[in-house]
Amino acid sequence: MDLFEHQAKELFAAYGIPVPRGIVAHTADEAREAAQQLGGRVVVKAQVKTGGRGKAGGVKLAEDAADAHRKATEILGMDIKGHTVHKVLIEEASAIAEEYYFSFLLDRANRTFLSICSASGGMDIEEVAHATPEKVAKIPISPLEGVNRAKAREIARAGGLPEKAVEGAAELIEKLWCCFVDEDATLVEVNPMILSVDGQVRALDGKVTLDDNAAFRQPDHEALVDRGAEDPLEAAAKAKGLNYVKLDGSVGIIGNGAGLVMSTLDVVAYAGEKLPGAPRPANFLDIGGGASAEVMANGLEIILSDPSVRSVFVNVFGGITACDAVAEGIVAAFRLLGERGEQVGRPLVVRLDGNNAARGRQILTEANLPGVELVNSMDDAAARAAELAVAGV
Ligand SMILES: Nc1ncnc2c1ncn2[C@@H]1O[C@H](COP(=O)(O)OP(=O)(O)OP(=O)(O)O)[C@@H](O)[C@H]1O
Ligand SMILES: [Mg+2]
Repeated sequence: MDLFEHQAKELFAAYGIPVPRGIVAHTADEAREAAQQLGGRVVVKAQVKTGGRGKAGGVKLAEDAADAHRKATEILGMDIKGHTVHKVLIEEASAIAEEYYFSFLLDRANRTFLSICSASGGMDIEEVAHATPEKVAKIPISPLEGVNRAKAREIARAGGLPEKAVEGAAELIEKLWCCFVDEDATLVEVNPMILSVDGQVRALDGKVTLDDNAAFRQPDHEALVDRGAEDPLEAAAKAKGLNYVKLDGSVGIIGNGAGLVMSTLDVVAYAGEKLPGAPRPANFLDIGGGASAEVMANGLEIILSDPSVRSVFVNVFGGITACDAVAEGIVAAFRLLGERGEQVGRPLVVRLDGNNAARGRQILTEANLPGVELVNSMDDAAARAAELAVAGV
């Protein structure tokens, strides 16, 4: 999970890292009030989970509260690389002497942690790294030894920071390491880390990625999730323990096992290419190994709640879960959905293969469920599902 800048800075502050005072605003009026409260010149900063905001016009200096209102009006609602700005951070303006770059990240290729430091920080760091890579120091960090003050000084000096900034930067770097480790982050980036005119080193920007695999031991991270940006169906599926991903086509896909589901997406997209409107997968849902009636009912309910779904392809290869169990799951799912007052209402193409496939097909044939068609091969089933999506309901 990536954090917004304001969340990153709140986290930094909790670790004693100096950050400017700031207030989040959702409207231009709130922005004016925030600027009034902070007093003096402020910076209005778009809160979107992408870099390069400054260059896109999403970071603007405001002379006073009225100006903050104006700048917030310009920035709120703006589109930055596909992200709409719903909130801005109003922050006291720092008097900047120099801008540096600093980050810790997980270096997967080398199976270690890495620190990156440069005296040439700021919005052009990508160009600096490209044109003059010698100006960007990359120092591996041993996970066993970590970062103490001496190591932090070594990193700051390797990045070419001037002596007057080394001690302040080393303090910030050491605290940032604690934050990186204690929060189970895979990235903490400060660009720019500044030296202010009065000689202070401060984090003026913050980018943090938290490791979702550590969520079980980081209960506080739950509060950092951006609910507004979550797809409601993905959230509902997650709550039911299902892996559901929303796509933009019209064929709903249910399969068992990630590999089968991935190839199902390809086969449906391929079959759809030849048809008018080129129907594509609308979503996919992996019901995993065990396909009980309840799992199947939940899966169908989620898939059918997506209004763009015009047909559903259930593609199951019986392994540990035999096809007859899946077939019974589908029959029971129809009953369960009926009891819940849900209409299936769209055609379902089912392909069963593998363990007990014949028995599974027999169960479905005998059940004679409305709108359910059995097709034997995966290619034919995909073609039929795509065809039904074009025909509509
Ligand atoms: N509080 C502040 N006071 C003064 N100047 C600031 C402040 N915050 C940001 N700036 C200036 O705006 C520039 C861009 O801000 P910031 O780095 O937060 O956004 P960004 O463009 O998204 O960053 P990145 O390029 O790292 O993605 C900074 O390099 C800095 O010069
Ligand atoms: Mg930045």
